[in-house]
Amino acid sequence: MTTVNPPKLLIFPFDGDAAGQMQHQAHSLGIEVACAHSDRGNDHFLYLPYVSDRGFIDALRALITTERITHLYSPHPVVWASLDDLIRQGQLSLSLLQPSPYEQDLSRYRLAVSWAQKQLAVMPATAVSRLGSDALDTLSGLHLGFFTIPGQSDLAKLEAIVELMGRCPAGDIVEIGSLFGRSAYAFAYLARRLNLGHVLCIDPWSNQEAGDQGDSAKLVNTASRHRRYNDVHHYFRAIRQAFNLDNLDWLRSTSCQGAESYRAGTAFSRTESTGTIALLHIDGNHALEAVSADIAAWSPWVGSGGWILIDDYCWSFGSGPRQAGDHYLQQHADLIEQAYCLGDTLYIQKK
Ligand SMILES: C[S@@+](CC[C@H](N)C(=O)[O-])C[C@H]1O[C@@H](n2cnc3c(N)ncnc32)[C@H](O)[C@@H]1O
Repeated sequence: MTTVNPPKLLIFPFDGDAAGQMQHQAHSLGIEVACAHSDRGNDHFLYLPYVSDRGFIDALRALITTERITHLYSPHPVVWASLDDLIRQGQLSLSLLQPSPYEQDLSRYRLAVSWAQKQLAVMPATAVSRLGSDALDTLSGLHLGFFTIPGQSDLAKLEAIVELMGRCPAGDIVEIGSLFGRSAYAFAYLARRLNLGHVLCIDPWSNQEAGDQGDSAKLVNTASRHRRYNDVHHYFRAIRQAFNLDNLDWLRSTSCQGAESYRAGTAFSRTESTGTIALLHIDGNHALEAVSADIAAWSPWVGSGGWILIDDYCWSFGSGPRQAGDHYLQQHADLIEQAYCLGDTLYIQKK
């Protein structure tokens, strides 16, 4: 009977974040890990010569045997390519765990470009022409940036934002509830390129003021207590700087306090308001009273042809957004051009 060695991963060279992450993941899965480096002075790692050294292949084979290595991982593109060559030439009978690091670097980009091509194919021609000759780069960049920002808006929301902003009238773009700024980034990125208005984000970024989202959202309420909102707020501000979003303004307050400032003309302090909202994204506290208050305070400022988006209209933790949205649709049927639900969000366009 042949015995099969339990899996054991060799990480070589043990260098950089990717190596540490792989070690952590392997340990979490109960897989043994051996870490090797070509730096002789480092007692934490097994030693292997540089791939360019003559003795490399023999030293590697010896280490594979003594350590009973079954899998290889290399975060270094040149080492990866050398190991791949040795495997292809039949000099090593193990396989590499991952594709080339060069390919991995590009995989996010390839996803972004194919997504951008699909968006361009369905965007109104006028919006594509406003994006200019760099439209493909612009939309690929939007996708790349969006997924570097933590947050709760998904790909369906990003697609809807692209679609709506391509045919949205000019005016202010207001977001209630921004967290780290994922959706805010998409609004500001596109608003600048499509020549729409400035973006205002209203969020208290405060555990106390973000409040309870109702009994059915107990799990969400409990998890949110662990959020360090002051850090989240500074993360949001850093995103604004990192992406040079100088058309993005913010107000650290609750939605209702923010509406008072908007009424008084003081809500925008870094950019300027047109006094009319072209797009309102309601994504703050999801309790029925809170969403109803957001709609009541802000929807009157949405101008003709403008849009109201009610996030989590379909929500697993409660029916606040749905009830508030349905109530608005019933009460204001005469003001509404169209309304539909896509993904988890209700989209309403005013006449
Ligand atoms: C679901 S997250 C927003 C997600 C964000 N739009 C994104 O794309 O990732 C909800 C946010 O609403 C904020 N919030 C809670 N109560 C609020 C209120 N009364 N007014 C404004 N924002 C509020 C919270 O602080 C939190 O950052």
